[in-house]
Amino acid sequence: MKEYPPRIEVVGSPGAVAERAVAIVIAELRDRQPVTLGLATGATMTPFYARLVAAARAGLISFHAASSFNLDEYVGIAPQSRGSFHAYMQEHLFRHVDMPADRARIPDGMAYDVATEATRYEAQIAAAGGIDLLLLGIGTNGHIGFNEPGSDFASRTREIRLDEATRIANAGDFPDRASVPRRAITMGIATILHAKRILLIATGPEKAAAVAAAIEGPIGTACPASALRLHGNVDVLCDESAATALIDRPHTNDRRRA
Ligand code: F6R
Repeated sequence: MKEYPPRIEVVGSPGAVAERAVAIVIAELRDRQPVTLGLATGATMTPFYARLVAAARAGLISFHAASSFNLDEYVGIAPQSRGSFHAYMQEHLFRHVDMPADRARIPDGMAYDVATEATRYEAQIAAAGGIDLLLLGIGTNGHIGFNEPGSDFASRTREIRLDEATRIANAGDFPDRASVPRRAITMGIATILHAKRILLIATGPEKAAAVAAAIEGPIGTACPASALRLHGNVDVLCDESAATALIDRPHTNDRRRA
């Protein structure tokens, strides 16, 4: 098992993380046409999408030739309902940019047969030629997508039972704890590792332990994000508070390159 340490960059604030991530995506959209993006949802991504939309409005980028695949969606939550990742993506990105709606893909959490939907989603990613740049957040338990600890590194898109820690972290998107979905459909770890380039972003002190486990802990299923060290083309972008538990901590605005 060959290990490839990721490129790590620490910047001063969540806003600076978002700006740097947008700069990376802008470069990708300009250099590679058509581009296929992999997209995440969540609180970490919100400032990133706000700046990406601002860049599109300013005419710095266009999504007309882009397509995208989201990492995950809750099972049993209708696309238009609050808390769904479909609703999140519409609100934060899709309704503001010129990407054709049929090229903005999200797994169908309402599918009658989730296993068939998972196979269809994998085939759709393959038919698009794979993902060029995949954006990831990280869970406090080290999950990427909704690959919770214990997920096999060979896993593909599938249904998964959410950890209690994940349900608690995401409870704010739902009226009460009982309404937080228990299951989701997620790209697998092997699906993620198949992307040509990966950009993981992490902000806030609550992510510090997961970032350190992913980058400096043992590579194994206990920390799904540690699988990223098997990839070879991964950037990790953190704010200072998310980098505090790294032993070999890069200086702010310093890029540590393997
Ligand atoms: C969301 C996703 C998750 C989140 C992670 C962090 O599509 O795949 O892995 O990136 O749970 O979420 P936030 O940013 O809300 O802390």
